[in-house]
Amino acid sequence: MFLLELPTANLLYLVLYLATLVLHVVAMNYVVGGAMVVAGAAVFKVFRGYCDATQAIVDKIVDWLPLALGVTITLGVAPILFIQLLYKHAFYTANLLLFHRWMAILPVLIAAFYLLYLQKTNWIQQRAAFVRALVALGVLGMFLFVAWSWSENHLLSLAGEGEWVEHYSAARNWHRSGELLPRLAMWVIGALATLSVILAWQLRGRTTTAVVRRLAGIGITGGVGAAAAGAWYWTELPTEAKLAIRQPAHLVVLATAAAGLVVMLAAWGHMARTGRLSTVWLWWATAGIAVAIAAATVLREVRRYVALHTVDQWEPAVEAAINAARLQGFGVFALFLVINTLVIVWLIARVRSRLHAHAN
Ligand code: HEM
Repeated sequence: MFLLELPTANLLYLVLYLATLVLHVVAMNYVVGGAMVVAGAAVFKVFRGYCDATQAIVDKIVDWLPLALGVTITLGVAPILFIQLLYKHAFYTANLLLFHRWMAILPVLIAAFYLLYLQKTNWIQQRAAFVRALVALGVLGMFLFVAWSWSENHLLSLAGEGEWVEHYSAARNWHRSGELLPRLAMWVIGALATLSVILAWQLRGRTTTAVVRRLAGIGITGGVGAAAAGAWYWTELPTEAKLAIRQPAHLVVLATAAAGLVVMLAAWGHMARTGRLSTVWLWWATAGIAVAIAAATVLREVRRYVALHTVDQWEPAVEAAINAARLQGFGVFALFLVINTLVIVWLIARVRSRLHAHAN
């Protein structure tokens, strides 16, 4: 397994990268999955009204989306720092080559923030259904653009010098790859699985049978859809990547991801049958999706390892990370860790006490 061949410094950065990326993925899943559900429901409402169960789910998502977007962006910062340490050359090259496309993420996210707050206002609630559908579709379109940009950037960073030169000399804005659509489909559809579990925790104690079945429908669609997109992605993977994934250690990781997904699906299947949101089964669903996301994130790195090996960039990347580790700076890191932790704890305590005072 490639992880175990790495020097300690690289392994430490890689583990930190993977752990922080998993957190980003969880928050991103709420944002992307939530925008899909809200947009789907808003379009449906243009033609027909929907039931209280759908309304309860949509209200909860609309209420939480602005915060979830803030959390997604914040949790993207840590992996972006580690990815620069680990894969400097490939990462920066892809950013430079996509340039305007890549920079467009920022204004798009700012606009998305405004639309998310607009979605919460009474003003928009009083507008015609098709206006609300347009806003919801706009939000979804923006999130899909950002997700697509990350996937495209990732694939371009794996392409190597030959393709980069061609991309640059042809002044292209887009990097075409057969892997892009199935890869994106896996992220986007899979987001529904994570969303279903987080929503279930948010709505716990206030659910009806119809709400539980709606949540199960969202979770099962996400799980089955991600598996189908994964199978599609397999057909588009380069032969070297398929060979690497067939190695026993990587097959174990793949089997772990599949097992996590099956546990999540079984838990939702059970809760849909009984119509009850049982805490024990919800924990099973949570553990299942957590394991599936963690294992999929490790497998994702196998693809990069194979690609960078193929274009002779793996060894230079490993060397560069070892050099970065030699520069130290742990003291500064520890100092800011302490300061930031104290500030965050203080802020949470302040908000809690204000809320408490408000409630009384
Ligand atoms: C709504 C906003 C966002 C969405 C929907 C989103 C979506 C995604 C997706 C789909 C991926 C996986 C790409 C792939 O493997 O093909 C990804 C990776 C990543 N995202 Fe986000 N993201 C968002 C915002 C951000 C922000 C603002 C940051 C940085 C501050 C960030 C940092 C990262 C990093 C570092 C990776 C890993 C890149 C790599 O390994 O090549 N994301 N994101």
